[in-house]
Order: sequence, then structure tokens, then C-alpha cells
Amino acid sequence: MRVWVAGHGGLLGTELVEALRDTMEVVTAPRDRLDLRDGAAVQRWLEEHRPDVVVLAAARVGGIAANLAAPVAFLVENLAIQNAVLPAAAASGVARLVCFGSSAMYPVAAPQPLEEHSLMSGPLDAALRPYALAKLAGMELCGALNQESRALGRRLGALCVVAPNLYGRRDSFAERATMLPALLRRVAEARQGGEHRLAVWGTGRARRELLAASEMAEAVRFLLRLDETRWEALLRVGEWPALNVGAGGDHSVGEIAMAVSAAVGWEIEIAWDSSKPEGMLRKLLDTSRMDALGWRSRLPLEQGIRSMYEAARADGRLP
Ligand SMILES: NC(=O)c1ccc[n+]([C@@H]2O[C@H](COP(=O)([O-])OP(=O)(O)OC[C@H]3O[C@@H](n4cnc5c(N)ncnc54)[C@H](OP(=O)(O)O)[C@@H]3O)[C@@H](O)[C@H]2O)c1
Repeated sequence: MRVWVAGHGGLLGTELVEALRDTMEVVTAPRDRLDLRDGAAVQRWLEEHRPDVVVLAAARVGGIAANLAAPVAFLVENLAIQNAVLPAAAASGVARLVCFGSSAMYPVAAPQPLEEHSLMSGPLDAALRPYALAKLAGMELCGALNQESRALGRRLGALCVVAPNLYGRRDSFAERATMLPALLRRVAEARQGGEHRLAVWGTGRARRELLAASEMAEAVRFLLRLDETRWEALLRVGEWPALNVGAGGDHSVGEIAMAVSAAVGWEIEIAWDSSKPEGMLRKLLDTSRMDALGWRSRLPLEQGIRSMYEAARADGRLP
């Protein structure tokens, strides 16, 4: 089976390539030769390489600050990538198509833990709304492609895997990174500078679910190996083809900061800046459907953060 991992150089893409190449032929498109927003170029690439499966891990991704700074890019680029890749993959005859959604797609008032049927049931967190709307459109596009493919007698199954915050060895530690890598960079820099006091956005009480990208990649490998009956059942034709894949639990941002401090080996005292947004207070994914299939996250958070820090120190991305 040949699988195209689109966005192979990213946090998740790197892990997907590693996890899938044991049992599948993985193909990737050089980033400088294929812009995934260019539908015609994507179509030509698919015609040339003829994958059986496409896993779309390319997106514009970032934390709250990055989303607030560039809402247009988060909306337009994510729509453009999905619109270019998903229909072209369906038309090329792939059997299975996986793209990624985010817990930001759930309405702010949805009951916790978040079950897939709560998607599209209410208003979204305003800070992440452009990104979340693009992701919802991607999920809807998967459903529409499944529906049309059946009418055309094609065998496509497109699934939107809804992820919590992901982290891992290929994370970006840039200024506008997501919460965990941003905290890790700041604590590592505090240690280097001999500082103990750190100002952090929010109150520390918001809770976040964190899943290692390596575990998400394992989960995707598990899903791609499901037999046809179980895979088809996930698509829920006529409903949204969305499946939560999560860590099975969450931590307060304060607890996450303490886990980071332990991983770096540097004590910190946090000054919470409650004038700054901290996003939804909780967004824990309900993983009952994935649990029933037989897959669960096993990596403890502290261990995952330690591996992430070691990898970033080893190649000089963090002090
Ligand atoms: N990270 C998270 O916490 C998180 C949480 C929930 C869901 N997700 C979802 O999981 C998926 C993977 O995210 P990630 O964290 O792995 O993102 P990432 O680390 O930013 O990787 C995204 C990859 O996509 C590539 N890319 C972006 N625009 C492209 C374009 N126009 N043409 C070709 N390649 C392009 C990027 O290349 P360049 O870097 O060269 O631009 C990068 O290699 C995304 O769908 C994301 O929405 C992520």
C-alpha cells in the first residue's frame, strides 16, 4: 500500500512518516516543489505518484497569539490546502483519506468531555474561530466527498481525525508557538538566564489535553490497518466523518508548567497575567469510540515532555 503523507516535514508529519513506513510505502512531496494550496499542481503530483492512501498533515498551525495575529492566514491557508488536496485525492481514486481537525472545532458551551456529535452545535471560541472554521470546513468536505464518491461508485473513505494539542520532538519553539513548546522554551531560557519568575498568559486554571505527535501517528497507523467494515463504520455517512483521538485526560496549565519545570530541572514561579486570553477553560476530547476500537494513549505527559526537551537540546533548538 502506498501512502502520501502531505506535510511530512511538520511536527505530526515527521512522526507519521516514521510510523507508517514499517508497513507501507511512504511517498512525500518536496516542500519547495509542491505548494499544497495549488490544486492543479497537487492533481499532477497525484497522477504521477498514484497513492492508495493520503494523510493530510499540512496546515497553518499555531497558538492563540499566532491565531490572533494572523486570522486571515489561518482561515484562508487552511481552506486552500484542504480544498486543493482533498477533492484531488478523491478524484485520483484513493481508498482512504485522513485529515486532521482540532478540539478548537468544538463549541465553547459543548458538554465535556467533547463527543463528536457536539460538533457544529454552537458558537466557537472567538480567538481560534478562523482556524476552527477552516477545520470544520475540512471535515464537511470529507463528508461531502464520501457522499459523492458513493454516488459515483468510487471506494473513497475520508475521515477527519480530531486532535487535542499535539507536542513532540519536531515542535516549533518560535515566538508564536503553541502553549507547551512556548512554555518549554521560556523555562529553558529562564534557566540559561538564571531567572525564576515567569509571566504567563491566563490564570493557570484552564485545562489542556496534550497528546504526543508520535502517539497520534501510531493511532493513524492503527486506523489505516482497520478492516473495511470497521473503517466504514467510522465514516458515518450522512453525519460528520469525525473521530476524536486524544490522550484520555487533561491537566491545568499550572500543572503543565510544573511538569515543564521538572523536565528542564529548573524551579519557576509564575506570575499569571489574567488580562490576557487563555482560551476555553476546558477542551477534553471524549475518546470512547477510539477506546472501543482498541487504541489508547499510553505515554505519560512528564515522560513525553522530557523526550521533547532532550531532542530540542540535542540539536541546539533549546538551551
Ligand atoms: N500542533 C497541534 O497542537 C495540533 C493540534 C490539533 C490539530 N493539529 C492538526 O494536525 C495537523 C498537523 O499539524 P502540525 O502541528 O504537525 O503542524 P506543523 O508542525 O506546522 O506542520 C505543518 C506542515 O505543513 C507544511 N505546509 C504548510 N503549508 C504548506 C503548503 N502550502 N504547502 C506545502 N506544505 C505546507 C509545513 O511546511 P512549512 O513549515 O515549510 O511551511 C509543515 O511541514 C494539522 O492539520 C493541524 O491543524 C495540530
